[in-house]
Amino acid sequence: MKITVLNGSPKGEISVTVQYIKFIQKKFPEHEFEIINIAHDVLKLEKDKKEFLQTIEIVKKSDGVIWAFPLYVFLVASQYKRFIEMIGEQGVTGAFEGKYACALSTSIHFFDHTAHNYIHGICDDLGMKFVESFSADMDDIFIDDKRRILIKWAGDFLQAIQKQAPTNKSYAPLQYGSFTYKPGKPANPVDTGGIKIRVLADVEEKSNAANMVDRFRKAFKQDIEVFNLRDIDMKGGCLGCLQCAFDNVCVYRDKDGFMEFFNSGSDSDVIIFAGVIKDRFLSSRIKMFWDRSFFNGHIPTRIGKQVGYIVSGPLSQLANLQEIMLAQAEMSEANLAGVVTDESGDSSQIDALLDDFAAKCVDYSQQKYIKPSTFLGVGGHKIFRDQIWSRLRFPFDADYRFYEAHGMFDFPQNDTRYLEFSGQMIKMIQDPKMREMVRTMIKTEMLKGYQKVVETK
Ligand SMILES: Cc1cc2nc3c(=O)[nH]c(=O)nc-3n(C[C@H](O)[C@H](O)[C@H](O)COP(=O)(O)O)c2cc1C
Repeated sequence: MKITVLNGSPKGEISVTVQYIKFIQKKFPEHEFEIINIAHDVLKLEKDKKEFLQTIEIVKKSDGVIWAFPLYVFLVASQYKRFIEMIGEQGVTGAFEGKYACALSTSIHFFDHTAHNYIHGICDDLGMKFVESFSADMDDIFIDDKRRILIKWAGDFLQAIQKQAPTNKSYAPLQYGSFTYKPGKPANPVDTGGIKIRVLADVEEKSNAANMVDRFRKAFKQDIEVFNLRDIDMKGGCLGCLQCAFDNVCVYRDKDGFMEFFNSGSDSDVIIFAGVIKDRFLSSRIKMFWDRSFFNGHIPTRIGKQVGYIVSGPLSQLANLQEIMLAQAEMSEANLAGVVTDESGDSSQIDALLDDFAAKCVDYSQQKYIKPSTFLGVGGHKIFRDQIWSRLRFPFDADYRFYEAHGMFDFPQNDTRYLEFSGQMIKMIQDPKMREMVRTMIKTEMLKGYQKVVETK
């Protein structure tokens, strides 16, 4: 059989993910695997329609497609996302329809599930027969049993094609509204009180998203910063070259103005992303901004700030994207102040939401209101902490210095308070009498400290 591998690594052939594909290739020599370096060559594919169509032709002639990609900032790399956008723009979805598909990623398991949900959703939208995802840790290939599982997964995918196995859809098609937002005048513009607000927008002129951004701007008494990401000098997506890892300086530093622009926002108190839903995310331009921010490695870059989103499109149908938005805020140690969409289809309702959002941005910022993180931020931090401590210590030297200086290596074994208490209690319950006594008291005793706070604070 002919299998097309759509390689999502910006590094092209010099990629960890491709080694997994080559390993599979070696184990199944009876099949032909053609690797196309989508993310590496996306600028070429964008410029040269013939080349793009040749790629699509390869997909069309194949029996199955492997979406093979590294995780990049909660999703796939912006270059890969751009290719997915082009499939729709160029009207070539037919080449994918009815084809068997699967997804293979390599990563450190940080939001690998959101990337897989996204790709699975794209396959469902394209009418592909999606078989299964496989999320490998980037180093799994070194472990015998992990390699065995990888071969089993790949074999099952190939068999599914041969047997023409039945497949399910997991994601319902997105329903888009056709409403045109007509902004009204703000009744009581909010005083920014010196709070610095920056909007980073990827919007078409006169679109709902553009009008929402404009209306948001007018919700304040003073002027706020609004940048169209199309005007920001970004020559390309993150290359994954890791040249930034020692001292947070991007390899593009002399080639474009991204780093300077990003750093110029360091004194912003509020950062809002504005854009439209494109496939099952925001635009690849916004994703490019996120990926390029990786020159900061795993260092949280919005500590104590407010962040938010202004979105045109069916966000309420995209739980995955909503999760990413919250996770992005929590991982950068910011507060997700709000998300406003045009889904209500009611202009006055959107005006009211934008006014309320503007007021919240200022209030939350002034009150230094940062909500506690959920599982997304708490769990995500632990993954980064462990990785920077050991496996990623090299090359991410800048991360290590930051984590050390800011007490981010908060391993539980450092928490002597709980360790001492647990040690004493464990010793105590070795005595059967004490064990029974502690059992009868555990519920009430556990609560005492909490009750004291309620009574005294
Ligand atoms: C810019 C960038 C962003 C990344 N983002 C994530 C991420 O969000 N989650 C994760 O688990 N790993 C992330 N990684 C790690 C890569 O996914 C991982 O190293 C992968 O194996 C690289 O594969 P490749 O060599 O095929 O590009 C990121 C790496 C880079 C360079």
